[in-house]
Amino acid sequence: MSIKVLFFDDDVNWARTVDIFCKDSKIELCQMANIADIRLKITQDPTFNLVVIDISTPKRSILEVIRYLKLNIPSVKIILTVSDMIILNKLGLTSGALTKLGVEDVLVKPYGQAALIKSIHGIHQFESWQTLKNQDEEEDDQEEAVREQDDRFTGVKLENYISGSVNVFDLYLRTSRNNYIRIFHRGKKFNKQKLEKHQSKENIEYLYFKTADRGTYINFTNKLLEKMIDKDINVGKKAGLVKEVSEIYIDEIFTKGIDAQIVTEGEAVCRNIYNLIQEDDILFEMLESYLNLDNSFRSHLFGTMFFSSVICKNVEWASGSTVEKTCLGAMLHDIGKLKLPEIFKTLSQKVMTPSQLMQYKSHPAMGVEMLAKFPTISEPVKQIVYQHHEMADGSGFPSGLPGIRIFPLARIVSLANHFSNYIVEKNMAPKQAIHPFVMERNTLIKFDQVLIKSLIIGFIKKGKS
Ligand SMILES: [Fe+2]
Repeated sequence: MSIKVLFFDDDVNWARTVDIFCKDSKIELCQMANIADIRLKITQDPTFNLVVIDISTPKRSILEVIRYLKLNIPSVKIILTVSDMIILNKLGLTSGALTKLGVEDVLVKPYGQAALIKSIHGIHQFESWQTLKNQDEEEDDQEEAVREQDDRFTGVKLENYISGSVNVFDLYLRTSRNNYIRIFHRGKKFNKQKLEKHQSKENIEYLYFKTADRGTYINFTNKLLEKMIDKDINVGKKAGLVKEVSEIYIDEIFTKGIDAQIVTEGEAVCRNIYNLIQEDDILFEMLESYLNLDNSFRSHLFGTMFFSSVICKNVEWASGSTVEKTCLGAMLHDIGKLKLPEIFKTLSQKVMTPSQLMQYKSHPAMGVEMLAKFPTISEPVKQIVYQHHEMADGSGFPSGLPGIRIFPLARIVSLANHFSNYIVEKNMAPKQAIHPFVMERNTLIKFDQVLIKSLIIGFIKKGKS
């Protein structure tokens, strides 16, 4: 199935080039001679769910069309193209304004074919399940043995898997090393009895999907969580789902790198974490018994996101949007490690050689360099990434800033990062670890006292002493 895109660019020569870009890429490009025609076309034909609009010649009418789309057809995804980033500044299109307008990505001209296709496919792939219909209701979903390398599959704990009525990707059971059975097909009805039949015969702990479908899983689960948040569903189920999607998200970002769509999904993951812990009972249960962090990189990042959200929840000055930025900064804080050898993901600073330490200390700056390409990522998120190793006593890096000069949201992530490492190192549940953690001299001198208090408050169950 081809992707249908509406396209507008004043520059006729460039529009012709883009036409050639799309011809071999299963992208059906519909060129609009006039920006106003986009409204009409999209209303008449709702199968167009992606628009690419050039704003190199800034006109009010262009912004009006973008606002119209955001307001009236919010499901439409927008990619902007521009000949110079300065134009965005002149139009007041900061990262926040772009997000408010529903802009998913910005490409700078002359962008290449690969960049355009990656942007369009990235957005489409994550959300393609939304248009999926049950294909053959009558036909039974045949099982099939599949022999493929384990590393091409991603496992989800069965207790944390929630399906829709139609399978949004193929689902497998693992029988032995590199051997799987495809039990459900994408587009076919989800058959609960069939799964139960397998469960009665075998001890099934995990369901698997192809790692290539990870983006779809993340998007699908995020949307599901948004709907579940206010519903009366078992606490453990919600918490398990949030932890699972966060960790799979981290795998995606740290193996494939970042792009515009994955940043949008990250914001959704953060919103879901924050919404979840608004319920004091859920938060308390997660802190007391549920939050099992291990020594893996993904587990540590989830812990940092989670504890950052807990601190934000109890900080008076943190608004909803502050929390999302902080949580996104926590998720991306170590993105610069992608530029370092794999070993740095889990190697402790305490055992590094002097040359390793020097290399390690470059990761905040490398992270910011990577994020600079994404205008939809806000400055506060970049500041968090740059300063997450600064300490209140000035002993941190890269700049050795004193506490008062450290960006407040970076102070939150720094504390959460440290606490997340502490509980793994001590092999303690968060509830056991909080007391010895706050009594440590290092904690008291290296972190903001108000924030330490905010973390502690998370552990106090309301209504009890
Ligand atoms: Fe770091």
